[in-house]
Amino acid sequence: MSKYDMEINLLSGALGAEIKGINLKDNSIKNFKKINKLLLEHKVIFFREQDITAEEHINLANCFGNIETHAYVKSRKKYPEILRIIKEANEKNQWGEGWHSDVSYNYKPTKAVILKSIKIPPIGGDTVFSNMELAWKTLDDGIKKIVKNKKAIHSSLGAAYFVKNYRSMESNGNYDEYSNEHPILRTHPETGKKILFVNWTYTKKIVGMKKKESDEILNKIFQHQERLDLTCRFKWTKNAVAIWDNRSVNHYAISDFFPGRGLGYKRIMDRIAIEGDKPN
Ligand SMILES: [Fe+2]
Repeated sequence: MSKYDMEINLLSGALGAEIKGINLKDNSIKNFKKINKLLLEHKVIFFREQDITAEEHINLANCFGNIETHAYVKSRKKYPEILRIIKEANEKNQWGEGWHSDVSYNYKPTKAVILKSIKIPPIGGDTVFSNMELAWKTLDDGIKKIVKNKKAIHSSLGAAYFVKNYRSMESNGNYDEYSNEHPILRTHPETGKKILFVNWTYTKKIVGMKKKESDEILNKIFQHQERLDLTCRFKWTKNAVAIWDNRSVNHYAISDFFPGRGLGYKRIMDRIAIEGDKPN
C-alpha cells in the first residue's frame, strides 16, 4: 500500500469500518467529501495514529457543520468547542454508558461526533455502535406498523445525570430538564434511508399512547436495538479517532473497569459534536 492508497477494513457485518490512508489533518473539501462518503456508507468510521491537535480537530469538525455546545457539561477552557471526557483512574464508571444517541432530546440532535482518544487504559472501555437502519429493517412487522407514524418524547434528564457520578465531569451550571418530540421512524437527510430513532437512555414515551402500552413497546424496541448482530465494537488506542453518524447509530461506552482488569487507569477523550437537523 502506498501512502496515497486507502484501505477499508470492516469491523462487523452490521456497520463500522477502520480506515487507513486518510490524513485527518487535511481539512480540504476533497478530503472531507471522501470522509463523509465513508461515514454515510459505514455509519461509524475509525482511524488510528492520527496525532491531530485541538485546532485540527476543530477544523475537521467545521467541515461537517456548526459545532454544538453541550447543554449541561463544561467544555475545555481554551477550546470551548471541545468537551473533554475524563474517567479518573479509580473510577469504575465512565461517561456514555447505556445505549443512546447523543443529545437526542435536543430540538436538533447531533449530526455527527468526532471523538479522539488522548489517554487509554491498557484494557477496557471499548465503545459499541448499533446500526439503526438495520434495526428498522429487522424490527418485528407488528411493531413497525404501530410506531411508523408515531412520535416519541426524548428527555434531557437534567445536568445531574451527566455529572454526578463522574468526578472530573463539570456542569456548566444549567440544571433545567427539557424534552422534545421526534418521529420514531426518521428519514436520513443525506441518504434518504429509514432509521429507527429511539434510544434506551433518553426516549421516555410514545406520544398519544398510554404509559403502560408505550413502555411495553419501547422495551421491546430497546431489546431489539441491542441485538449483537446489529453492532460493531471498537477497541481504542491512543490517538485514535472515531466519527459516527449520530442520526443512524446508537452507541454504548462499556465500563468494564474491574480490579486487575482495567481499573486503576485514567481515560481521557476529546469530543466535538456537530449540530444536526430537526428529525423528520
Ligand atoms: Fe454518547
